[in-house]
Amino acid sequence: MFDALQEELKELRAQGLYRSCRRVEAIEGARIRIDGRWLIHLASNNYLGLSQHPRVVAAAQEAIQRYGAGTGSARLISGTFSIHEELEERLARFKQAQSALVFPTGYMANLGIIQALVGPGDLVIGDHLNHASLVDASRLSRAAFRVYPHRDLDRLESALKHRAGRYRRVLIVTEGVFSMDGDLAPLPGIAELTRRYNAWLLIDDAHATGVFGAQGRGTLEHFGIPPEGQSPFEGILQMGTLSKALGSQGGYLAGPRVVVDYLRNKARSFIYTTALAPASAAAALEALNLIEEEPVLRAGLWNNVREWVSALDEMGCDLISRASPIVPIRIGSSEEAVALAQRLFEAGIYAPAIRPPTVPAGSARIRTSLTALHTQADSKSAIFSFKNSLESEKIGLFPVKAYDDFH
Ligand SMILES: Cc1ncc(COP(=O)(O)O)c(C=O)c1O
Repeated sequence: MFDALQEELKELRAQGLYRSCRRVEAIEGARIRIDGRWLIHLASNNYLGLSQHPRVVAAAQEAIQRYGAGTGSARLISGTFSIHEELEERLARFKQAQSALVFPTGYMANLGIIQALVGPGDLVIGDHLNHASLVDASRLSRAAFRVYPHRDLDRLESALKHRAGRYRRVLIVTEGVFSMDGDLAPLPGIAELTRRYNAWLLIDDAHATGVFGAQGRGTLEHFGIPPEGQSPFEGILQMGTLSKALGSQGGYLAGPRVVVDYLRNKARSFIYTTALAPASAAAALEALNLIEEEPVLRAGLWNNVREWVSALDEMGCDLISRASPIVPIRIGSSEEAVALAQRLFEAGIYAPAIRPPTVPAGSARIRTSLTALHTQADSKSAIFSFKNSLESEKIGLFPVKAYDDFH
């Protein structure tokens, strides 16, 4: 009965595209235990290490004590607790927006926002490398959907010029920092086109919030694009996730009050699901406090990024970008990327291969990401093992030795 599925799985295996979950047994600082071995973790989006911060953990525990483990209801029934409203107010302030709305995940935020704001008769134009949640949301919205080549302002403009007039509403969608490439969208140019063509712009700042900008507010702050109310760009909406630099779980939209009010009434992934767990809301709230109070976390992260990029450059790695804590190394073939990831694993490093369909065909890569938790010793060890693995993978002459075998 399920033979066709077996066949497809066999085919995926043959192409080096089969996926399975690695079971993580424990996490401590920038180390991760898999199969009983402690590895240096180069695959986390917990950029500031806040998921493990004692204040964040304590806030989550207190919320469980006060409200229980779950909310027991959707937000519009009885699932809106004071912690949700506190978090929404705090997010709005942090993002310098009038208002904010929290969803159970970032994926659901994108689904709900885009499906509510556009539909038949509207147009979504998105960057070719946008995250799957943005692509799925754009398709499910039933609006017309076009993509422009990655970061290509000329092609975005020509799409707007030829199409914008034909639709009721035009929504441009881009990631602020691209999750698999680590580069930044050219936001000043996109914002200018948004204004010129009277469009709306949704920025997915999942990987920028807490990381970019003098106060960690994200890519708008990084590029010096003024916040809501002071900006000539009226149509800008920011979404993000609580699950990366904020170390928790959940997603949000920050924007004008009317948009938030509209989404509360229309976004199906907000309405028809159980409200975010109180522990997650409280953890994210405390993480925002820490981002504001401890800029040293962000400074430490960026030091680690600089050191890592220059070490990989010295090794002659083909880096896809050097602009963010996401530092992907271009490999090309899925099989080679998987083989190198396995070498790295044996050498004590966790940095998985990213393959199609997550990235375009022929662009498999090892995606490394840095956090504020990586110590000098972690970096030294990671650089050593990386060098060793790259060499042995290239010439295949000697087995990989773990750093600890040498020291
Ligand atoms: C750019 C981007 N948007 C949205 C999401 C979805 O966020 P969440 O994990 O909170 O569902 C992710 C990652 O998971 C992402 O990388």
